[in-house]
Amino acid sequence: MLKTGVLYRYKDFLPITPQTPLFSLGEGDTPLVKCDQLAQEIGCGELYLKLEGCNPTGSFKDRGMVVAVAKALEEKSQAIMCASTGNTSASAAAYAAYCNLTAMIVVPEGKIALGKLAQAIVYGAEILTIEGNFDQALQIVRELTDKHPVTLVNSLNPHRIEGQKTASFEIIDILGDAPDYLFIPVGNAGNITAYWKGFKEYYELGKASKRPEMMGFQAEGAAPIVHGHPIEKPETVATAIRIGNPASWQQASAARDESGGLIDMVSDAEILAAQKLLATRAGVFGEPASAASLAGLVKLSRQGWDLAKKTIVCVITGTGLKDTDTALKDAPPFLQLPANVKEIEKALGWG
Ligand code: F0G
Repeated sequence: MLKTGVLYRYKDFLPITPQTPLFSLGEGDTPLVKCDQLAQEIGCGELYLKLEGCNPTGSFKDRGMVVAVAKALEEKSQAIMCASTGNTSASAAAYAAYCNLTAMIVVPEGKIALGKLAQAIVYGAEILTIEGNFDQALQIVRELTDKHPVTLVNSLNPHRIEGQKTASFEIIDILGDAPDYLFIPVGNAGNITAYWKGFKEYYELGKASKRPEMMGFQAEGAAPIVHGHPIEKPETVATAIRIGNPASWQQASAARDESGGLIDMVSDAEILAAQKLLATRAGVFGEPASAASLAGLVKLSRQGWDLAKKTIVCVITGTGLKDTDTALKDAPPFLQLPANVKEIEKALGWG
């Protein structure tokens, strides 16, 4: 693929030098889908979904990873490392494979969706599972990458944030202005940090007349920013955001305060209901964590927020195909029938 992707398209806005290699797996330029049916049901003006699951490894991580890996190559690094709840590791593994680097990933045992683990395995990463959660894994890789010549590619790496901010540019490029609100799931809090940076930069360049209010949503059992203290044992069905001590906590709070937005929480039941709503009303299959944005919007609308004249973007951060176990858990059984037209007509009530 030539001259498309985050590095080429937004070169002037990224920390790229003549020595930075430019390449792409096709990340970025994801769909912004207008959903009138959902907007009507929820009671908001215009509602758009930013489908980050359409990135090459199925999540928004690819936008930041392409920049982080390009800079790692520029710095002659041979290996990259990250802790992950699954999506960062899938992305790191893919970009490392493309660039002939070693990817080392540390994930919490038994708590990452199978599709994400499958990606890391198939892309050929070195995988370590730990008897601990994401926060412990992140602490470990911070120490290891401090000591050894390996590049950390978690969102503590500023190049990740630079790449991820391009999603805000795309929203403004398509809508012609910033939306009134941006709804986004919050885990380690890198993405809300990146979006806010992108919105501020485009605003300062005069490409938007305003900046959106940033509406971040954590899962109820993993809501350290909402509670104002780290959560030692975070728990949620949305394993991607099962995080108790976000690395970009301060930056996420700043995004909330500077934009006049909020960081709130949604329950697992609200997340799963929003995942279903997204699928059945918009034809979009997002993973549970990614549905936290829509769950947040539904929550505020039910609380009586007047959104009737507002333009809203919900970021759908990753594809549901990564976690079919969760999606199918309470699925009703379907009919099993003989290969016979008459029997099928009978079952359909046509005969
Ligand atoms: N949505 C999905 C699908 C994610 O994978 C993540 C984070 C988030 C939302 C939250 O984004 O951390 O920038 O606030 N996943 C990380 C990972 C932690 O390891 O894949 P954040």
